[in-house]
Amino acid sequence: MSPPLLIIATLLNLLSFIHSRPATSLQLPLSVTVTDFGALADGIHYDTAAIQSAIDACHCSSTTKPCYVTFPPGKYLTATVFLKSGVVLNVEEGATILGGTRLEDYPRESFRWYVILAEGASNVGITGGGVVDGQGLKFVVRFVESKNVMVSWNQTGACAGDECRPRLIGFLGCNNVTVWNVRLNQPAYWCLHIVQCENTLIQDVSIYGDFNTPNNDGIDIEDSNNTVITRCHIDTGDDAICPKTYNRPMYNLTATDCWIKTKSSAIKLGSASSFEFKGFVFDNITIVDSHRGLALQIRDGGNASDITFSNINISTRYYDISWWGRAEPIYVTTCSRHFNSRPGTISNLLFTNITINSENGMFLSGSKGGLLRNLRFINMNVTYERYTNYVGGLVDYRPGCWGLVKHRSAGIIMEHIKGLEVENVNMRWSGEKAAQWDTPFDFRPSTVNDISLLNFHSGLYRQQWQDSEKSSG
Ligand SMILES: *[C@@H]1O[C@H](CO)[C@@H](O)[C@H](O)[C@H]1NC(C)=O
Ligand SMILES: *[C@@H]1O[C@H](CO)[C@@H](O)[C@H](O)[C@H]1NC(C)=O
Ligand SMILES: *[C@@H]1O[C@H](CO)[C@@H](O)[C@H](O)[C@H]1NC(C)=O
Ligand SMILES: *[C@@H]1O[C@H](CO)[C@@H](O)[C@H](O)[C@H]1NC(C)=O
Ligand SMILES: *[C@@H]1O[C@H](CO)[C@@H](O)[C@H](O)[C@H]1NC(C)=O
Ligand SMILES: *[C@@H]1O[C@H](CO)[C@@H](O)[C@H](O)[C@H]1NC(C)=O
Ligand SMILES: *[C@@H]1O[C@H](CO)[C@@H](O)[C@H](O)[C@H]1NC(C)=O
Ligand SMILES: *[C@@H]1O[C@H](CO)[C@@H](O)[C@H](O)[C@H]1NC(C)=O
Ligand SMILES: *[C@@H]1O[C@H](CO)[C@@H](O)[C@H](O)[C@H]1NC(C)=O
Repeated sequence: MSPPLLIIATLLNLLSFIHSRPATSLQLPLSVTVTDFGALADGIHYDTAAIQSAIDACHCSSTTKPCYVTFPPGKYLTATVFLKSGVVLNVEEGATILGGTRLEDYPRESFRWYVILAEGASNVGITGGGVVDGQGLKFVVRFVESKNVMVSWNQTGACAGDECRPRLIGFLGCNNVTVWNVRLNQPAYWCLHIVQCENTLIQDVSIYGDFNTPNNDGIDIEDSNNTVITRCHIDTGDDAICPKTYNRPMYNLTATDCWIKTKSSAIKLGSASSFEFKGFVFDNITIVDSHRGLALQIRDGGNASDITFSNINISTRYYDISWWGRAEPIYVTTCSRHFNSRPGTISNLLFTNITINSENGMFLSGSKGGLLRNLRFINMNVTYERYTNYVGGLVDYRPGCWGLVKHRSAGIIMEHIKGLEVENVNMRWSGEKAAQWDTPFDFRPSTVNDISLLNFHSGLYRQQWQDSEKSSG
């Protein structure tokens, strides 16, 4: 196009733009409303076509600014909708997007089973103060307090076992993803899934999954770089923030200012861990009544390094043994999933300003060829107290590896470590049952080297309490 024609074309675009909306809205982002495209919002009829048409129209009109697809208050039942470049879903307060519960609501390939799916899109997001709901409870075959029995959509043979259910939201191969100010309810399987993405921000998102439903993960970040998670509230059954590597390394993940409760791990690297994890920061996080606190479950040969955990309060307790975890507040392991495969290593971990209340000790378990190197524990107050009746005295190597193994409890169980620095750490045992396991460290010198303790204290909780009463009185 020659320059004058280009100018005319631009002017025409601008004119049609001005004519299509009141002049005052020129400063506002582009926006379309799903009800204008025929959405009924009654929660009974499927609004899939209307929502998809709105997204497609918005995608076509977005240029440098994002285009918003607005959902006014109401219930929008839908099959999978495909989010496109330049589009932000604006689910207003009072609006709920409800995921369909039938197999035919989802694409053929099980890896594309999401209620909302963005593939290879850039500058996309979800916001608005409303709710996206996966109707996960409708996927429960039998409610069991220890662990629900779930539907399996394995008819196609695409997936097997009980992990054959749709996820809630997926960004696959995307750039510049922002999910903010939105509530995600009852995913049938994983909730928010970020795969091979660059530049993702997840902020002010709350996630409520069912506590007894397996695979009800909060945020799974896979093979992605430069991810920020902040001010999130996650209350769910399975792993809450879960970085994984299947096909590529993962760099630069930051999670701050979050609150987490889960029947599994609050923060978990792995267990899918074929590539590197590097440059992660977890700061200002509250972990409540979870089965595990901070976990590295490296099983597939990837290496994890340069990871900081700071300003974190952790309370962990035992739950049913069918869930991975034995109340470990900190769990760092590299045992291979299969005995013939090469283990990954873990190095340069810093844990600082950590307060722990837990029913069990920490488990730091490297393996032959999968050493844990240079771990630092600085400024920690640890209180151990047993208060549930679940079985103790086991170390948990699952998945694969040695499984569950009988082993007496201790403050920190260590194997295959080179370099652990413990500084300003107080470890206390509280309650009547404490005496059975008030051993601070349990290790065999043959596999553990370079341990340094500086200003480390351990003892029964009551004594410390009385001492501080005396000194303050
Ligand atoms: C998967 O489907 C087959 C039949 O198609 C069935 O025999 C099997 O039990 C199913 N597995 C699960 C875990 O549901
Ligand atoms: C991502 O956002 C940045 C900053 O706004 C922009 O420069 C870049 O072009 C965007 N990436 C893509 C693929 O659109
Ligand atoms: C993340 O960065 C690494 C290193 O540059 C690169 O190999 C990988 O492909 C990147 N991942 C994505 C999803 O771009
Ligand atoms: C990780 O962050 C660092 C520092 O901001 C940056 O230099 C590096 O390029 C990032 N890595 C990737 C793979 O984007
Ligand atoms: C820590 O996170 C909480 C939210 O969980 C927030 O209210 C608080 O301001 C944060 N503290 C700091 C020091 O940033
Ligand atoms: C941890 O607990 C202490 C005291 O109970 C409190 O001052 C601090 O803000 C808490 N920090 C987090 C991250 O929850
Ligand atoms: C992990 O590190 C070892 C060297 O310590 C290296 O040989 C191996 O290739 C690394 N694994 C991956 C998946 O990058
Ligand atoms: C640890 O806590 C102290 C006291 O609250 C604070 O001054 C320091 O900055 C914290 N360290 C880190 C790494 O956040
Ligand atoms: C640990 O407890 C001591 C004494 O009560 C307190 O001064 C310190 O700030 C606490 N540290 C952490 C990380 O909570």
